[in-house]
Amino acid sequence: MRHKLEIDLATPEAPPKASVEAAVKLLESGYLFRYGEMGGEGNEAALLEEEFAALLGSKYCIGVNSGGSAIFLALKAAGVERGDKVLLNAFTLAPVPGALEHLGAEAVLVEIDQRLVVDIDDLRIKAKASGAKYLLMSHMRGHVADMDAVSEICDEFGIKMIEDCAHTMGATWNGKQTGRFGVAGAFSSQSYKQFNTGEGGLIVTDDEDLAARAILMSGSYMLYAQHSAAPSEAVFDRWKGTCANHSMRMSALVAAILRPQLQLLNERNARWRKIHDRVASRLRTHQLLRLPDRPEAEDYTPTSIQFFMEGLTNSQIESIIADSTAHGVPVKFFGGSTPQGFTSRSPHWQYLPAQDLPRSEAILSTLCDIRLPLGLTNAQADTLAEVVIESLNEALP
Ligand SMILES: Cc1ncc(COP(=O)(O)O)c(C=O)c1O
Repeated sequence: MRHKLEIDLATPEAPPKASVEAAVKLLESGYLFRYGEMGGEGNEAALLEEEFAALLGSKYCIGVNSGGSAIFLALKAAGVERGDKVLLNAFTLAPVPGALEHLGAEAVLVEIDQRLVVDIDDLRIKAKASGAKYLLMSHMRGHVADMDAVSEICDEFGIKMIEDCAHTMGATWNGKQTGRFGVAGAFSSQSYKQFNTGEGGLIVTDDEDLAARAILMSGSYMLYAQHSAAPSEAVFDRWKGTCANHSMRMSALVAAILRPQLQLLNERNARWRKIHDRVASRLRTHQLLRLPDRPEAEDYTPTSIQFFMEGLTNSQIESIIADSTAHGVPVKFFGGSTPQGFTSRSPHWQYLPAQDLPRSEAILSTLCDIRLPLGLTNAQADTLAEVVIESLNEALP
């Protein structure tokens, strides 16, 4: 008798009651836009920025309308201009190269290694060869690179690093939070992240010029004084004539929904980690499944699980996935010829100049991925792993 999982793995974590109450209160007040010409009422977005800056230990924080916007604005405010080269690890999600395309920047893709993180040797080679002055470090699916080695390369070549922390809210490398290694960190509160506001993004930085530029560019209509996790008026004076308004503000409603979730971060991450590690330990028992290594320095915050189906052809993997999907476990596949849902690879980003990434392509050709809802019980986590293993065994001769 085959196992079948009876829960929808795409179930998002509902915001807590305090978020619902804060949202209703704000809706009733009508102050949904974060800026009021008379100073704003309560200014949920400014309060959120103060609280998020405190959580990350940064001087400044800017709320925006999505994680992709946070990446775009952080890079632009850091100085990236049309035609500039930006290094980017090849394993990432489409909005990340999308932000570079939006900037008119030239993506220089860097190979990844078996841990699904940037290949340090290739980073050094491409940093030198390209002369790029920016690195967009994407901690895709929560896998954190050796950030000490990455930071060293950035220092050596005078590269400004912007971190994409959409999947690493609360994750650390050697005790230091992701988002705090470079000049800015970009976060997302889209529904499948640690915090759920539907859409939303946050930038953290200690750089006063970057912060002022990001606030102006996010679309603050010269009402930037309503930001409190922000630099002084004198810093805005340096930039206010030269920064275009890109209308990427965070709405007060999103901020009101997010604020009560901040205090849940550690508890959510601990629960997610338990679910991940339980599924991982069962999947590891199958000889054809390999999971990426997680070094001790990496304190990871998984919301999904990745594994390689080794020694199988593309079509075998696709038929295994069809079978596991029929049994309630929709496995995603990075090796597919066309992008699906939240999975894609560099050959699918045809707007970028073609780049030869043989090692990344080989690694991603057997990579599978499953979303792990926070509500998954131990029994459901076990069933999920059994379904994958049974689908795999079914396909074997
Ligand atoms: C690695 C990564 N970076 C950036 C983003 C962009 O976040 P958003 O969907 O909030 O624009 C995502 C979205 O899932 C992502 O997975």
